[in-house]
Amino acid sequence: MLVTRAVVWTVLSSLALGAPGSIKRSSPGRPHRCVIPSSNGTADDSPAVQRAFAKCSSDSVIVFQESADYNIFTPISATNLSNVEIQVNGNLHLPQNITTVQRIVNGTGGDLYSNGQYWFEFKGPRIDYTGSSKVNNGWINSYGQAWWDANPVNGTGIDYRPHLISFHTTDGSFNYFKSRKPIAWNVQLQGDNITVAHAFIDAESTGSFPFNTDGFDVTATNVRISDSVIYNGDDAIAVQSGSHNVVFERNTIGYQSHGMSIGSLGEDQADFANVSNIHFEDVTVIDAVYGSRFKSWSGGQGIAKNITWKNIRVYNVTFPIFVTQSYTNQGSSQTQLGNGVTSGRPNNASVMMENFVWSDFTGTVNTWRPGDGSCVTDPCWYDDGLPNLKHTEAVIIECNTNSSCKDFTLSNIAIIPQSMSPPTVVCMNATAELNPNLGFSCRNGTFLPY
Ligand SMILES: *[C@@H]1O[C@H](CO)[C@@H](O)[C@H](O)[C@H]1NC(C)=O
Ligand SMILES: *[C@@H]1O[C@H](CO)[C@@H](O)[C@H](O)[C@H]1NC(C)=O
Ligand SMILES: *[C@@H]1O[C@H](CO)[C@@H](O)[C@H](O)[C@H]1NC(C)=O
Ligand SMILES: *[C@@H]1O[C@H](CO)[C@@H](O)[C@H](O)[C@H]1NC(C)=O
Ligand SMILES: *[C@@H]1O[C@H](CO)[C@@H](O)[C@H](O)[C@H]1NC(C)=O
Ligand SMILES: *[C@@H]1O[C@H](CO)[C@@H](O)[C@H](O)[C@H]1NC(C)=O
Ligand SMILES: *[C@@H]1O[C@H](CO)[C@@H](O)[C@H](O)[C@H]1NC(C)=O
Ligand SMILES: *[C@@H]1O[C@H](CO)[C@@H](O)[C@H](O)[C@H]1NC(C)=O
Ligand SMILES: *[C@@H]1O[C@H](CO)[C@@H](O)[C@H](O)[C@H]1NC(C)=O
Ligand SMILES: *[C@@H]1O[C@H](CO)[C@@H](O)[C@H](O)[C@H]1NC(C)=O
Ligand SMILES: *[C@@H]1O[C@H](CO)[C@@H](O)[C@H](O)[C@H]1NC(C)=O
Ligand SMILES: *[C@@H]1O[C@H](CO)[C@@H](O)[C@H](O)[C@H]1NC(C)=O
Repeated sequence: MLVTRAVVWTVLSSLALGAPGSIKRSSPGRPHRCVIPSSNGTADDSPAVQRAFAKCSSDSVIVFQESADYNIFTPISATNLSNVEIQVNGNLHLPQNITTVQRIVNGTGGDLYSNGQYWFEFKGPRIDYTGSSKVNNGWINSYGQAWWDANPVNGTGIDYRPHLISFHTTDGSFNYFKSRKPIAWNVQLQGDNITVAHAFIDAESTGSFPFNTDGFDVTATNVRISDSVIYNGDDAIAVQSGSHNVVFERNTIGYQSHGMSIGSLGEDQADFANVSNIHFEDVTVIDAVYGSRFKSWSGGQGIAKNITWKNIRVYNVTFPIFVTQSYTNQGSSQTQLGNGVTSGRPNNASVMMENFVWSDFTGTVNTWRPGDGSCVTDPCWYDDGLPNLKHTEAVIIECNTNSSCKDFTLSNIAIIPQSMSPPTVVCMNATAELNPNLGFSCRNGTFLPY
């Protein structure tokens, strides 16, 4: 079953690649239609929205009207959907009053990532989220700037921040999602066979750092994210344990991005983290801290295998190619993506890495102004364990043990420091025995590919 599905997926993918944008699905078997009335900004529209989702919970099309404004002052939970298209042609607005939102999030009794409050929660088979293809419509405005600016000096984000949206479906799609100034995390994807395209996430700040504004947190299988723009202050994509067959292609990521990430994996030491067949291709990375990034916790267990980053253009990126198997997370428990003890952990295991490929990277290392505003400690969290950085490092690979990294391959890595000095590498424990095609010798110093 799994094999058949994988084959079908591949065939579909190659069709989609051959003719981008040519696949348009109608709404077969969706006879019901709920058009949501708008108060035009004069009242709270969330009761009307919630009613529409209750009434049109199956075999339906739910419409936010073109150019209309909707105040979504309380969270929308639609977890019993089946075969529903959500057309977001209007613009949605969260409350601008921080206290109001905090009270709602606090009311759920949890501020941990794992049980945090989502402002929009959609769940069920065959959900299509269809935003507007028009550039001024289909935006979700979260008014995050005030939240970022409310963060105290050296804080990592104030308490009771909601996640924007949870999209949990099988055989669904998520198109033209547009998020302006999210308070924090944008999209959590869960389920199977989900296509995401033309997303636009803009968490650029005019003031303080936009902490935890992750683009896509993925815990799903058979996912494709393409043709999207993600400008934010955390991972553009974070592929979590349980994810298999994920493609991230033809995207632009930047601002204070923390890159295309696998992980963090293995935070819960009793859990077995498992990620495979993840493919990042044809991506432009601008001004980010990381380009490609793998992060697992020392003492975590699991396996990550068959992971590729290919055709990646980096411009002014601090750590273009980065692997750590001894990740720790700064900040409060609310920023943790998983669960588990974060300090005093025995280093008794590693999330094993196998068959990793980095190929065809071009661009520049950020030598002149490395890092970003997420640094609130000394040393900065992203410099932890790396005392002698020159900011000419094109490649940093830190393996937890001499057997935890296997079959790594780097080829055509043409990344040059802004200083125009030779690119360098920090490499620990990616042994030649287990990594015969590494492409350079694993030691610190000048990066000399062969
Ligand atoms: C909102 O504006 C639209 C278009 O101007 C109008 O048709 C509609 O009646 C207005 N709704 C309310 C509740 O005022
Ligand atoms: C979910 O929807 C099904 C069918 O549409 C219905 O029978 C069921 O009662 C709903 N459950 C809830 C919790 O609303
Ligand atoms: C925000 O809402 C709270 C609680 O309703 C209220 O006390 C406060 O005055 C509001 N703040 C602003 C700036 O409107
Ligand atoms: C969160 O809820 C607790 C318990 O109800 C309350 O003591 C606390 O003041 C609330 N905090 C905020 C910021 O709303
Ligand atoms: C994936 O979902 C799409 C609908 O979004 C459907 O047409 C396609 O058949 C599904 N693919 C598989 C392998 O089930
Ligand atoms: C490592 O230690 C932790 C904490 O004692 C424990 O939960 C975990 O099972 C251990 N891992 C292995 C592989 O023994
Ligand atoms: C890891 O994931 C693969 C693919 O879903 C599955 O076949 C395998 O059983 C998983 N292994 C563990 C130990 O969970
Ligand atoms: C590795 O992952 C790619 C997708 O990134 C997939 O096409 C390929 O079949 C996988 N290889 C193996 C051996 O599973
Ligand atoms: C490089 O990126 C850093 C961090 O985002 C930024 O401060 C700096 O202005 C950028 N430099 C250039 C030349 O774009
Ligand atoms: C913020 O952190 C920096 C670096 O650790 C420290 O030097 C500074 O004193 C801190 N500022 C405040 C207000 O805590
Ligand atoms: C390579 O650099 C890292 C990071 O600075 C350091 O921890 C490690 O000990 C160095 N390896 C050698 C052999 O000097
Ligand atoms: C390499 O791995 C061994 C265990 O396999 C460990 O003792 C050693 O500290 C590691 N070296 C570095 C530089 O991390």
